[in-house]
Amino acid sequence: MNKTLLFGTIIAFVFTTGAATLAQAELDGAALLEQRCSVCHPSARPKAAKKSPEQWASTVTRMQGKGAKISEEERKVLLDHLSKTYKP
Ligand code: HEC
Repeated sequence: MNKTLLFGTIIAFVFTTGAATLAQAELDGAALLEQRCSVCHPSARPKAAKKSPEQWASTVTRMQGKGAKISEEERKVLLDHLSKTYKP
């Protein structure tokens, strides 16, 4: 293997590993909660709440109405995390 090829292989490896880690972080409910739900109030605010899945869905809809930025995909992951972790 010549040097250029070896270098290219290393770069490609670092790049794909980095991208995979990022994609995973994006779809981690706990990370989403820390990143997206601590913009206007501390993330301690949602963490102090205990709600049913339906209540979490309407709370997150309300937060989106206030300006919380989450995609449809992230919303699903976040709701799943909230409903399982912060339940009555
Ligand atoms: C654009 C600002 C903003 C963002 C981003 C935001 N919130 Fe809020 N949140 C508020 C405001 C303002 C209040 C207090 C007024 C109210 O309850 O409507 C609040 C209150 C709350 C409450 C307490 C009231 C209740 O219904 O139990 C919870 C829980 C909550 N937020 C959860 C979240 C979650 C989960 C996220 C992430 C998806 C989030 N918030 C992101 C603005 C925001």
